[in-house]
Amino acid sequence: MFAQAASIVSMRSSIDVHDARRAAPAEPPVALEAVVKTYRSGSDDVRALDGVSLDVAAGELVAIVGPSGCGKSTLLNLVGCVDLPTGGSVRIRGQETSSLGDDALTRLRRDGVGTIFQFFNLLPALTVEENVALPLMLQRVDRAAARERVAAVLRDVGIAEKARAYPAEISGGQMQRAAVARAIVHRPAILLADEPTGNLDQRNGEIVLALLRELAGRGQAILMATHSAEASSICDRVIVMKDGRIVSDASSGR
Ligand SMILES: Nc1ncnc2c1ncn2[C@@H]1O[C@H](COP(=O)(O)OP(=O)(O)OP(=O)(O)O)[C@@H](O)[C@H]1O
Ligand SMILES: [Mg+2]
Repeated sequence: MFAQAASIVSMRSSIDVHDARRAAPAEPPVALEAVVKTYRSGSDDVRALDGVSLDVAAGELVAIVGPSGCGKSTLLNLVGCVDLPTGGSVRIRGQETSSLGDDALTRLRRDGVGTIFQFFNLLPALTVEENVALPLMLQRVDRAAARERVAAVLRDVGIAEKARAYPAEISGGQMQRAAVARAIVHRPAILLADEPTGNLDQRNGEIVLALLRELAGRGQAILMATHSAEASSICDRVIVMKDGRIVSDASSGR
């Protein structure tokens, strides 16, 4: 059933087996200290992050809000280990990302983080269950165990009956639920969501937010960049950014 997903993964033959069950470090899964990120744009430097310090604890659901260009996605990219800071310290599950080699960074990204995007980013040539299985294939989880985990997580997000469908055959809300399933199937400590409800109608947005709330309840640290007041209202904490800085960081008192 996962033949196609497995063949994609087998091309990455250098990926080694990891130990996802290693004891969790005592420090919070996300710990940023005085982080600076500068992009070079033509002859100018753009300071996308300008001294950001932030911890996110296990089980915490945190909203990052602020105007377009304030640095939300840049922050998520650093936490997701898809990019490295120009200065300061980004520690993910106790590891300083700047000091890791490529292989260790890839492992941390693959095993420690799941990401949900505004436009779902499902692979169109794979079925829902094959898309959701991808993180497990990357981890070389055995096929039978992967099949069970995928079926369970599709039940959790309420789209078990769409397992064999292709992304083009399901609704946007179902696509986002499949993307949530793919982001959590390997049980990462950290879940990142960049505008996860930005492309959904009210009802499907609510379903996805309820799923995030439930996942935080199960101990996942969740960072969600959003422009939606409704999305930030369900979070434990709302961080407001402006021009690459945190200008307010408040618990919602939920
Ligand atoms: N790869 C890049 N190269 C150059 N500049 C970049 C790059 N990525 C982001 N930037 C710049 O960094 C700043 C922060 O961008 P970022 O994407 O983090 O904003 P954002 O808060 O996510 O915005 P939005 O709400 O529109 O998604 C912006 O000025 C942006 O133009
Ligand atoms: Mg963004």
